[in-house]
Amino acid sequence: MRTPLVAANWKMNGSREFAEQFFTALDVKGAGCTVVICPPYPYLPLVAEKAGDDIAVGAQNLSQEASGAFTGEVSAAMLLDWKVDYAIVGHSERRSLYGEGSELVARKFVAAQAAGLIPILCVGETLQEREDGRALDVIAAQLQAVKDAAEGDIWDRAVIAYEPVWAIGTGKTATPEQAQEVHRFIRENLGESGAAVQILYGGSVKAANAEALFAQADIDGALVGGASLDAEEFARICRAAG
Ligand code: G3H
Repeated sequence: MRTPLVAANWKMNGSREFAEQFFTALDVKGAGCTVVICPPYPYLPLVAEKAGDDIAVGAQNLSQEASGAFTGEVSAAMLLDWKVDYAIVGHSERRSLYGEGSELVARKFVAAQAAGLIPILCVGETLQEREDGRALDVIAAQLQAVKDAAEGDIWDRAVIAYEPVWAIGTGKTATPEQAQEVHRFIRENLGESGAAVQILYGGSVKAANAEALFAQADIDGALVGGASLDAEEFARICRAAG
């Protein structure tokens, strides 16, 4: 039995005032799922304070390094200092806009786990890759890079988010059946560990489509971008998952 999980990825949005108002409006009591808020780095302390014990905090990225001369980077240990539990790694915006390849993503995954954070590993294909019939191969390769870099039973302390790149911020959600097909594939790809891993769907999730997505057998929740900036809409998504 997997606990549903819904994570908010604010991306580079918000302000101190926004974060304060968000928590005033957010009511996820009794939602029946784990709720994770991933704000931009500067708001992590404020979000950790507002989140209290019932809501978890995540970072949108982290360094693969532990410490040293890496200007502008933030380590896993620093995140732990701010009561961060989760870290997104391999988001498609990091892969496409900041040149993060699967090997670097795998190093970030390992760094997060080594420090005690739970990585939320994002995988997903572009529209071209889907149209070429290569979606599952691309996802298998993204997973393989992590398997090659990490040792031991890594999937019992990890979350996976399937985010088709063509569905992110576009308003085009994968159909529940399309998403389910990939989620099932990911679960099978992980072998025996697959049964217990939380696999989230991400890509234009909103309250109106959440229920149909969460009704699928292998969809355990969502990584929500745009709709997570509206506390009431986000809470509706959390309730649909629970
Ligand atoms: O991390 C979240 C995903 O990129 C989805 O973003 O809900 O705005 O499409 P979106």
